[in-house]
Amino acid sequence: MRKNRLAVVGALAAVLVAVTGPAGVAHDEPPTLADLAQRHGRYFGSATDNPELTDAPYVSLLGSEFDQITPGNGMKWYATEPQQGVFDFSQGDEIVDLARANHQKVRGHTLVWHSQLPDWLTGREWKAGELRAVLKKHIQTEVRHYRGKVFAWDVVNEAFNEDGTYRDTIFYRTLGPGYIADALRWAHQADPRVKLYLNDYNIESVGPKSDAYYRLAKELRAQGVPLHGIGLQAHLALQYGYPATLEDNLRRFSRLGLETALTEVDIRMYLPADEEKLATQAEWYGDLTEACLAVRRCVGITLWDYTDKYSWIPAFFEGEGAALPWDEELRPKPAYYAIRDALK
Ligand code: XIL
Repeated sequence: MRKNRLAVVGALAAVLVAVTGPAGVAHDEPPTLADLAQRHGRYFGSATDNPELTDAPYVSLLGSEFDQITPGNGMKWYATEPQQGVFDFSQGDEIVDLARANHQKVRGHTLVWHSQLPDWLTGREWKAGELRAVLKKHIQTEVRHYRGKVFAWDVVNEAFNEDGTYRDTIFYRTLGPGYIADALRWAHQADPRVKLYLNDYNIESVGPKSDAYYRLAKELRAQGVPLHGIGLQAHLALQYGYPATLEDNLRRFSRLGLETALTEVDIRMYLPADEEKLATQAEWYGDLTEACLAVRRCVGITLWDYTDKYSWIPAFFEGEGAALPWDEELRPKPAYYAIRDALK
């Protein structure tokens, strides 16, 4: 009898755990952004960078609040193939190991980009055949290395100009526009399961640049080229206004059967920040979160790091900053609460 009662208590406890989650009833810690996003079948992530990983409070919040991370630099070409044919995956691996320890997934960023290329690649002329071989080897070696460890790749980053013409990069110049389809095919061969994305900034709104992606995506899909998603970086700035057509834009890609993701979100402003700017920023963070939730196949949101302490903005946009939902002391800003509200 007593044994039975114990069994009943045990069963009840199991039910309680099942209902309330492993934390049970004793803890009343608020759900994280990741918890809230998961209820919608989305992830909520942050970029991070190797030098930041010695900052314990930073790493702790990174590990608890998010269920996805992206290496801010560690998987780029200059880092991964510093000399031709000599590969170094140590920085990316460090991020992957951290993600594994924290049960997070990793977006791979990025295989083909005109920026942050090694000198051996940019410092000489290439014949098309040579560069094709170099590109294929780079893509396939890196994708193979991270097979099963990243769930998505930004295969080509920033391929278009603002007016929707192809950006004049070493790859476009030497190989023509077909380098994009080739890159996708090579990546797919190296890891048939990983989701393959094209990623760019200023494509949040419907306009010439996002139209170029829409046309290209349609064409690639029609040709059976393995393209699975479009990444909208979403480096927004208060002075340029909110991209009001974001939701429509996400939806048109979704209708092509493609995933979308907001991959590098930050919302910068001219410094100093003030209450009003931070309130507008918060509203925008909330709005873009709602836009993603409203569209099927918008699979998740990634901040381009989560704290102003490690934002890339001040170094790249003079006089601007305060772009992220946590301030330099790792205190949540109004934007953080707006994201929470949007996810609830
Ligand atoms: C940025 C990094 O955050 C910086 O640390 C680095 O110095 C330059 O690149 N678009 C992208 C990202 O796709 O890779 C860029 O990251 C920001 C703009």
